[in-house]
Amino acid sequence: MKVLIVGSGGREHAIAASVAKSKKVDEIYCAPGNAGIGKIARCVPIGPMEFDKITAFAKEKEIGLTIVGMDDPLVGGLVDQLEKEGLRAFGPRKNAAILEGSKAFSKELMKKYHIPTADYEVFSSPEEALSYLEKAKFPIVLKADGLALGKGVLICEDFQQAKEGVKAIMEDKQFGSAGNRLVVEEFITGREVSVLSYVDGRTIKAMASAQDHKRAQDGDLGPNTGGMGTFSPSPFYTEEVDKFCREHIYQPTVDAMAAEGREYKGIIFFGLMLTGNGPKVLEYNARFGDPEAQVVLPRMKNDIIDVMEACIDGRLHEIDLQFEENAAVCVVLASQGYPVKYEKGYVIKGLERFEGQDSYFCFHAGTKETDQGIVTNGGRVLGITAKGKDLKQARANAYAAAGWVDFENKYMRHDIGKAIEEV
Ligand code: AMP
Ligand code: GLY
Repeated sequence: MKVLIVGSGGREHAIAASVAKSKKVDEIYCAPGNAGIGKIARCVPIGPMEFDKITAFAKEKEIGLTIVGMDDPLVGGLVDQLEKEGLRAFGPRKNAAILEGSKAFSKELMKKYHIPTADYEVFSSPEEALSYLEKAKFPIVLKADGLALGKGVLICEDFQQAKEGVKAIMEDKQFGSAGNRLVVEEFITGREVSVLSYVDGRTIKAMASAQDHKRAQDGDLGPNTGGMGTFSPSPFYTEEVDKFCREHIYQPTVDAMAAEGREYKGIIFFGLMLTGNGPKVLEYNARFGDPEAQVVLPRMKNDIIDVMEACIDGRLHEIDLQFEENAAVCVVLASQGYPVKYEKGYVIKGLERFEGQDSYFCFHAGTKETDQGIVTNGGRVLGITAKGKDLKQARANAYAAAGWVDFENKYMRHDIGKAIEEV
């Protein structure tokens, strides 16, 4: 079978690496891909939102399965378009991807179906939002309704900050039309866990848990980023938590979507907070996490194509989803200054150290092939993942491997997975 992957980040590289292990796959294409993906797939210069070109390419090459890795094309309806042309695609259709595409939708769904989440209100006008915020308890959380590259969430300590936040999101439209509506949410505290799951419309199977580190600097300081590192499994995600989530969050979410006439097939990513009052949903995503995929997929024992096809065909109950009894840690190597301002175009040295390794992975995010070799081409450059028998070992291995590569302005956090030492 020929497989096409849509996207260009570390997540898509991790997906491509899993697809490359499948016995069913002869050829992998990626649109648009990056320098690392280019080593295992044929990269084609088509953007993720160029639906007509993607569809035409998939038809022409007789692609057996298109895997949509990114949120924008899912929310925009790429899967619908591919299916309309008789092509097979993995990911939710537009009417289901709204679970990520609109926070107001997902909050209303959780309220209606009693899925635990923080209390909230939705506003369509800045005046209404402000008059509510004048009387609100602080800190409080403001969220742009739509997709905002993970940056549309503001935690406000007082009314003044909230006022500025409302202005930025709803009036200045810092996140574009994502800010047409505003979700104002109760501030809750606890450990965060990411759980990715496969869904076939009715059945849901959760993958191994993971934890992301969203802030740019050690000690969870600095601005929010796309994610500076991850580990899997999360020692805080106990069997008891898992049981609660399966009963009260995972299956109810899939059932709620079906009851709303929005059958969900693909990945649901549950961003959870383990609060004193039990686990609550912070957010849903309609895709693998980045960099969660980089620690979860290398531990998955199943053939990923078998699992994805079972989701499409409504046979997920037949799959015995299995993960290795080990751990993995991913340390992101970024460009100094990310996420605010950074330079690109520096040659990356040492990449060959990862060739032929089976416990160490160098997933490319922002890289580009040039005449000088592979160069940095983004804020997040590489995701260095290592496995180990436990989290401590995986962490030591990942940091050792993070030293194998070098480029000018290389920056990383040094405390990825440090929290596990408290357990
Ligand atoms: P989200 O994109 O919704 O996951 O939000 C980004 C980050 O903001 C989360 O990973 C949390 O650290 C934080 N956050 C979101 N919602 C809340 C909330 N209701 N209370 C406290 N922190 C939150
Ligand atoms: N790592 C968080 C995300 O992918 O949204």
